[in-house]
Amino acid sequence: MLRRLLVASLLFGLAGCAPEGFVASEADLATYAGWTRFDRGDQPVGPEHPAGGSVVYVSRLPVHGATAFAEGTMIVRITAGASPDPTTWEVHAMAKRGGDYNAAGARGWEFFDLELEPSADGSYRPHIEWRGESPPEGNGYEAPDGGGVELSCNHCHGAAVQNDSVLGPELDLTTF
Ligand code: HEC
Repeated sequence: MLRRLLVASLLFGLAGCAPEGFVASEADLATYAGWTRFDRGDQPVGPEHPAGGSVVYVSRLPVHGATAFAEGTMIVRITAGASPDPTTWEVHAMAKRGGDYNAAGARGWEFFDLELEPSADGSYRPHIEWRGESPPEGNGYEAPDGGGVELSCNHCHGAAVQNDSVLGPELDLTTF
């Protein structure tokens, strides 16, 4: 059954007509270094994402007057933290699949946890640790007040309805 589902989703992906819209591949995400880049410097943003130098990359900027990000838009957020070793950095992404995907949360968006892995040419390429509407169990965010409560990505992003579930000030839709 699982196998059949995998084959079906692969075929849909190849045909470019997946019912869930745009399905980002690792190859798509690997182009992030060439996207529009916002370097926010050191930012103590906890308890959301860990403190440290954070950088956001966007594959496609919204057009003037848009009330949502276009389907196919990918956003990668990196916190370099204290270590110069990219394999230790926190790398998250979201990609706009569109339609009814994640309808109960950050509508239209798929979330990713990425690891940067060294490749033969000396660059670091993102590997998808997990993807989906929310993190698999054990991969969510610990609530700041503890208690072992895990926050899904949707907890914060899904609440930002007025800005299409995107929270950073540099991607405020009213500023484009
Ligand atoms: C506790 C609230 C909270 C949770 C939970 C959360 N985020 Fe965020 N996220 C934010 C805030 C606030 C920003 C904007 C400021 C920043 O980037 O530090 C942000 C920014 C981002 C960005 C850059 C685009 C944007 O919205 O500005 C991505 C990508 C992202 N988060 C992915 C994720 C993923 C994936 C998860 C789940 C594993 C997640 N976030 C969980 C609060 C949260």
